[in-house]
Amino acid sequence: MSSHSASSDRTVVDTVPLAQKAKEVADLFNLPEGYLQKAVDEYIAQSVEGLASDSSRTMPMIPSYVSHSPTGNERGVLIALDLGGTNFRVCAITLEGQSKFKLVQEKCNVPNVYTTGSLKDFISFLADCIEKFLVKEHPEHVEQAKTGSGDKLRAGFTFSFPLNQTSANNGTLIRWTKGYDIPEAVGKDIPQILQKELDDRNLNLYIAAVVNDTVGTLLARAYTKPQNTGPTIVGAIFGTGTNGAYAEPLAEVTKFNRSMHPNIVDDDMVINTEWGSFDNDLKILPNTKYDALLNSNTHNKDYHMFEKRVSGMFLGELLRLVLVDLYEQGYLFTTKDAKAHLTKDSKLYTPWSLDTSTPAIFHADTSSDLVSSRVEFEEKFGFVPTFEELEAIKLISVAIGTRSAHLSAVPIAGALIQTKALEKYETVDIGIDGTVYELYPNFHDMIVDALEQTSLGKEGTKKITMGIAKDGSGVGAALCALDTKVSCD
Ligand code: GLC
Repeated sequence: MSSHSASSDRTVVDTVPLAQKAKEVADLFNLPEGYLQKAVDEYIAQSVEGLASDSSRTMPMIPSYVSHSPTGNERGVLIALDLGGTNFRVCAITLEGQSKFKLVQEKCNVPNVYTTGSLKDFISFLADCIEKFLVKEHPEHVEQAKTGSGDKLRAGFTFSFPLNQTSANNGTLIRWTKGYDIPEAVGKDIPQILQKELDDRNLNLYIAAVVNDTVGTLLARAYTKPQNTGPTIVGAIFGTGTNGAYAEPLAEVTKFNRSMHPNIVDDDMVINTEWGSFDNDLKILPNTKYDALLNSNTHNKDYHMFEKRVSGMFLGELLRLVLVDLYEQGYLFTTKDAKAHLTKDSKLYTPWSLDTSTPAIFHADTSSDLVSSRVEFEEKFGFVPTFEELEAIKLISVAIGTRSAHLSAVPIAGALIQTKALEKYETVDIGIDGTVYELYPNFHDMIVDALEQTSLGKEGTKKITMGIAKDGSGVGAALCALDTKVSCD
């Protein structure tokens, strides 16, 4: 690349070729040799801190009031209300025993007006979806409810945000994540506010449990996993957001005052770590100028700093920020045609306009002419970049995606080491849900590569099975809502 192309109105100060510049940027995302184990050590130290006390900067490490692992033999018909990052699902779940279940669901996309509007409108939106579902799938129940007859249906509510639980079905919102911003909801008991709205509508639905999606995933995987795998130790989500849950001896949860909960008889409790908030103070996490810029444009600035480097909501935006920078420095998109398309209202200049599928398509593209990358780029930006530009974007996408997967291994290894699971069992299992894990190319294999680089080594990593807990959050919520031993208060 020349220092200043004739058709460009941007000045390139240093004069390295595009390929070299792209490599320099990609290198910013590469984790140095030996980094992963240091990060695991830091993760363990910060989780111990979070188990000891609540402070706004530490990992929340929230007791979930769920103790038992399901056996796979639980049975019942339950409603699951599942609020993730993007959708709200209402499901009727029939647990059939023998690790089997049936699920009927209705998915509502949650429009932005509700994710950043008033609490009242948000709760009404959720209740509308629930009511519509019940009218369609359980009309007899709705009819009986109107006349005050019939039994209450039990529901499990998967609320995939940090909720400071005070019982199995109560909890106050600590803060929003994943782009939600309804300030008046912070500090409020969200499941109880929803319950009141359902009662006002006479729906005869009882929210028996509120669970984080990771807790749901842990339980669902334990319910559905193949018989020949070891116990499920961690439930993890790598989707719009990232988080994990695992069981911890209550004796180690020193911030939990057991004497206040005489009904709790079990010695272990599932902890919702909210590992998205690992290292909010950036003691160990990498922090490129793109990470810093991305953080400054989020509603939860300086929180969930781990999530902002790992999960699906952020990987496309990181790539966009790099592309803007390289364009503005005159390295990329220097043709007249490109510039004509890259106006201030173009996708390139629109925050959050790229989702993770863009870096994923570039990452997956192994063709010699990068044809699917070209198609994806043209679809998003309306012009065809040069081959060298496609190569540069691919290199950067691979670096962003690889860093995400390698960092994902850190809390998994941390939880396994902290619980000494590999010392206790021959093999252990991890239940995972989320689009990044499911759809990002080689995400699983990249996590395995990174696990091998920690003190678990190749031998330890061989003892770990990881499997998708499809519909985990819904099935897990249903298991928690069962009037059985799964929930412990
Ligand atoms: C965010 C939420 C967390 C949830 C995760 C995955 O990190 O704070 O509660 O589990 O996303 O959905």
